[in-house]
Amino acid sequence: MKKVLVLHGINLNMFGKRDPGQYGTITLDEIDRRLAKLGDELRAAVECFQTNHEGEMVERIHQAHGDGTDAVVINAGAWTHYSYGIMDALGILTIPVVEVHMSHVHAREAFRRTSVVAPVARGQISGFGVQSYLLGLRAAVELVQGPESADG
Ligand code: DQA
Repeated sequence: MKKVLVLHGINLNMFGKRDPGQYGTITLDEIDRRLAKLGDELRAAVECFQTNHEGEMVERIHQAHGDGTDAVVINAGAWTHYSYGIMDALGILTIPVVEVHMSHVHAREAFRRTSVVAPVARGQISGFGVQSYLLGLRAAVELVQGPESADG
């Protein structure tokens, strides 16, 4: 069974309480439950991790280098826009990385249009709420399993 690590960055534990106009009212726990359910359907093991500490996130990414992780889905939150530390850590990985965002980052403030994660990701999904994560998980699974086995 392929193993997908879903990483949630800074402030994302506050989903459900922050800016519902952008992020809706879904909580991070609910997002993680939806990811686990889709993981079961796709026959992939999904592990979710959230931190507000950049160094902790970098260390979790380093661990993924040798712990059998097959793909990473990441919503780096605001780190997306400026953290070369997160970018470099993801760049060390040889497995596919999929970047996701709940809100449509390209339709918001100018600073959100820059992603330092994008150059080390296979692609970016933005603007579909929880579906961004679920589409990101589907993309990650297809990248490592191929379409036949992911579809059953
Ligand atoms: C976000 C978009 C970022 O610009 C913002 O800083 C976040 C959440 C999203 O999921 O839409 O914290 O990554």
